[in-house]
Amino acid sequence: MNRQTRATLGGKLSAVLVAAGSSVGLGNIWRFPYVAGDNGGGAFLLIYILCVLLLGLPIMTGEFIVGRSTHRNAVGAYRTLSPRWTLLGYNGVLAAFLILGFYFVVSGWTLEYMIHSLTGELAHYSTAGEYTALFDTFVRNPWRPVLYTTLFVLLTHVIIALGVEKGIERSAKVLMPLLLAILVVLSVHSLLMPGGGEGLRFFFKPDFSAVTPRTVLVALGQAFFSLSIGIGTMVTYASYFKADTNLRHTALSVTLLDSLVAILAGVVIFPAVFSVGIAPESGPSLVFITLPGIFNTMPLSMVWSSIFFLLLVVAALTSTISLHEVLTVYFSEEWHLSRRAAAWTTTLSTAVLAALASLSLGALGGYPIFGKNLFDGLDFLTANILLPLGGLATSLFVGWHLDKRVIRREMTNDGSLRFRIFGLFLFLLRYVCPAVLCLIFLDNLGLLKVFFT
Ligand code: PFF
Repeated sequence: MNRQTRATLGGKLSAVLVAAGSSVGLGNIWRFPYVAGDNGGGAFLLIYILCVLLLGLPIMTGEFIVGRSTHRNAVGAYRTLSPRWTLLGYNGVLAAFLILGFYFVVSGWTLEYMIHSLTGELAHYSTAGEYTALFDTFVRNPWRPVLYTTLFVLLTHVIIALGVEKGIERSAKVLMPLLLAILVVLSVHSLLMPGGGEGLRFFFKPDFSAVTPRTVLVALGQAFFSLSIGIGTMVTYASYFKADTNLRHTALSVTLLDSLVAILAGVVIFPAVFSVGIAPESGPSLVFITLPGIFNTMPLSMVWSSIFFLLLVVAALTSTISLHEVLTVYFSEEWHLSRRAAAWTTTLSTAVLAALASLSLGALGGYPIFGKNLFDGLDFLTANILLPLGGLATSLFVGWHLDKRVIRREMTNDGSLRFRIFGLFLFLLRYVCPAVLCLIFLDNLGLLKVFFT
């Protein structure tokens, strides 16, 4: 595929919606609230926002520059700019493949929970113990999660097969407004719950006594995963941006939207959690165990839980689409496959990995690799190693190696826009991002335990 025949996204809004579709996902609604709950609520939120603006925003902009200046897939983009940095593109492609391995599994759970909310089955239980048993039995079942995971993979495939404009762009234009509308409805509902004020206080009132150096590292890791950076996604999407797309505004809009969704997810979840007196730090199971139990205490519980799980399905889908696209366009451009064949190659290979990851929680649980089951191993390897490594390398590449004329050209759209904060942008990419990312990386590998307890 050459540059001329490559797809392009329609207007400015499309660029924002498509990129925000990738960023906004399970990371915002499933992961952010429990990580914030675990790390002190309000103070974590403040630190998180600082991480997003000072580190996430420049790196996302850097990835946009790489993608739009080359109009290639992640591997081709780095190779075009500097053959020695091609490995960074491969890091992204590999990370996208491995993330899909576990992300499709959790996405499958959200689909199952949505369907069971709609059929009313989720309302048959009442105690926390019953919901825990339900979740455990479900994820360990040998075929049900695999079935729902496969359904989710096929749903993603259909959209990818429709192409960039008709599939990715169109779906983002429908799904993102739907997601925001659902979140607003659920937030209002949550704010009106008796006893919810305490939850909001927990979420918005900073308690700095709970902050340790480690809180900063956790916030950064969360920000990277949530913004979908350090991987080929933003490079790939920016390769479809038009020449007049304002990269700075797009990156700012995406980061703000992503943070807004994370905050609204907290507004939905914390008042509900506090109104029934559950500890906010109940971990990853918050959404699949605690929340269904809470919904069940409400009038019209089926409606609320169906809407909530629909929200999760929509959020997950726009993210799986972006990860799938990284691989599809890689196979298509680098392996010279038709888009159709490339999409099937991605679908089949990720479906096999996801099925194995799903089974590793039950039937295949007896075969750990390095002490972890496949599902946890994929999560650990990507979130703790490949993404921070990708973010670090991207900031070094754009900050130090990439020709400044390319940066200027992309940031000013060939001289038609001003870019007054060029110095600040470079400073963040050259010094701040690498320094902090090195810390995260060492900490994730357990090498900073001496300093951070
Ligand atoms: N940002 C997504 C989320 O918050 O759920 C997850 C994700 C999507 C990570 C795409 C990385 C990526 F390339």
